[in-house]
Amino acid sequence: MPKKTSSKVNPRAYSSVIVDGKDRAASRAMLRPVGFTDADFKKPVIGVASTWSMVTPCNMHINTLADEACKGVDTAGGKGVIFNTITISDGISMGTENMKYSLVSREVIADSIETVMACQGYDGIVAVGGCDKNMPGCLMAIARLNRPAVFVYGGTILPGEHNGKQLDVVSVFEAIGAEANNKIPLKELKSIESKAIPGPGSCGGMYTANTMASAIEAMGMSLSNSSAQAAVSGQKLKDCEAAGNAVMKLVKKGITPKMIMTKKAFENAMTVAIALGGSTNLVLHLLAMAHCIGVKLSLDDFTRIGKRVPMLADLKPSGRYSMADLIEIGGIQPLMKVLLDAGLLHGDCLTVTGKTLRQNLAKVKPYPNTQDIIRALDNPIKADSHLVILKGNLAPEGGVAKISGHEGLRFEGRARVYNSSDAALKAIMDRKIKKGDVVVIRNEGPKGGPGMQEMLSHTGAIMGQGLGDDVALITDGRFSGGTHGFVVGHITPEAAVGGPIGLVKNGDRITIDAKTRALTFAISKAEFARRKAQWKAPKPKYKRGVLAKYAALVSSASTGAITD
Ligand code: FES
Ligand code: MG
Repeated sequence: MPKKTSSKVNPRAYSSVIVDGKDRAASRAMLRPVGFTDADFKKPVIGVASTWSMVTPCNMHINTLADEACKGVDTAGGKGVIFNTITISDGISMGTENMKYSLVSREVIADSIETVMACQGYDGIVAVGGCDKNMPGCLMAIARLNRPAVFVYGGTILPGEHNGKQLDVVSVFEAIGAEANNKIPLKELKSIESKAIPGPGSCGGMYTANTMASAIEAMGMSLSNSSAQAAVSGQKLKDCEAAGNAVMKLVKKGITPKMIMTKKAFENAMTVAIALGGSTNLVLHLLAMAHCIGVKLSLDDFTRIGKRVPMLADLKPSGRYSMADLIEIGGIQPLMKVLLDAGLLHGDCLTVTGKTLRQNLAKVKPYPNTQDIIRALDNPIKADSHLVILKGNLAPEGGVAKISGHEGLRFEGRARVYNSSDAALKAIMDRKIKKGDVVVIRNEGPKGGPGMQEMLSHTGAIMGQGLGDDVALITDGRFSGGTHGFVVGHITPEAAVGGPIGLVKNGDRITIDAKTRALTFAISKAEFARRKAQWKAPKPKYKRGVLAKYAALVSSASTGAITD
């Protein structure tokens, strides 16, 4: 239950240090031209962190959303101040070396929000994020700051359409593979390219953005239903204004993220994201967010929760439907109600509404009988989690597999080893990969890449070549939420620090077994020791700039690839 708030709550705990008293006249002088009046100097100041930019459709509308959030703060008696952070787009940089900056951007976003909020003395925060790294980046800053906070998701994109079929960015990646394999003409690839992305919003399947938005709502850090609103909807605008109102309530009551982002709340986030068939990136981002708020979370927690939570959603990438379809039938709230009633969610967790999860869900109506997007608990797509933590002589600290069950639960094949993402992609595009191969892509971990590139171009091409059921792909890098097929990422320890993935040779027999949760390669102890003795650490690829800094600081993927 929400704690009784103390009468000692100071809603201006941080801004008063900056603007109160005659000695602070210079600060007030600086603030007047940006819109502060004498009355504003007595109000709580709320930072509205906007990830707006014209870099990507995911974030091109966020300025409008930030304006609404600011309006919500102001009408509730606060003073909102909008500031920006950065964004990059995986969808645009995917399949190139540039992608190495993607996961790095999560840290830049977290660091930049923490820097502005802490330096300027804001009393609370509404953070509005649209693309994959924005969301964990915002939540990591929110967690580190521990000031009253609400997260707003920028909203999903609407699907494109081609010959009566729904399109999104993953359709284009798979069309590239199909065209390269002469399955569709170039003209059709061009047509799919032009129709896939019809306007603003985050990639539309249950990819990383929609996964993280759902997880954050389930964790209690977004208002109810925030994750299931289209970017271009009236509901999304209302959600922003309501978030501005809500943060003011939290400020007045002294409700901080530490009271919401508890271990149980992380378990709720995992549970909902698993039921939705969410992205492997969930694992990395939740570990990082937990680190920032001081919650002990490990890969074993994913195994523990994963054993009892079924995957219920027939959503892309492995299923048929998009987030826009899920919105039509009521979003994620009816699913959360089902999970709560089945005892799979902790109902007593506090949320940013000021109420508990159970109270938020009290009046939620079930899905219509006619829908076939979210299965019943007794008729799951997979009886336990599709996100499977594997361990074994190939991944002593663990790796994350995405196994939705369509592909079967076990894969055994011969290793085809590539020392970079680029080399592997070239081999796949040149059709060197054959039935029964396990593509091994290494030196792409957090330190080795650096930055754990996503292998969506690779899995898209494999799918496009019709090899989805016959080829597996394992890596110390990671996958886009758009990836499906037999894949294992986040293999730790990574190759660059001496992990066994660096010792695999072409032709080694590799076994991926979701039932026994094992990732192994057939090698004798003596041969393992011989290869280990011969192994030399690769030289750092970057000596200057942000990639060099990141590689020097970043932790293992098994602890969230964090830098602080
Ligand atoms: Fe931004 Fe997919 S590239 S959500
Ligand atoms: Mg991504």
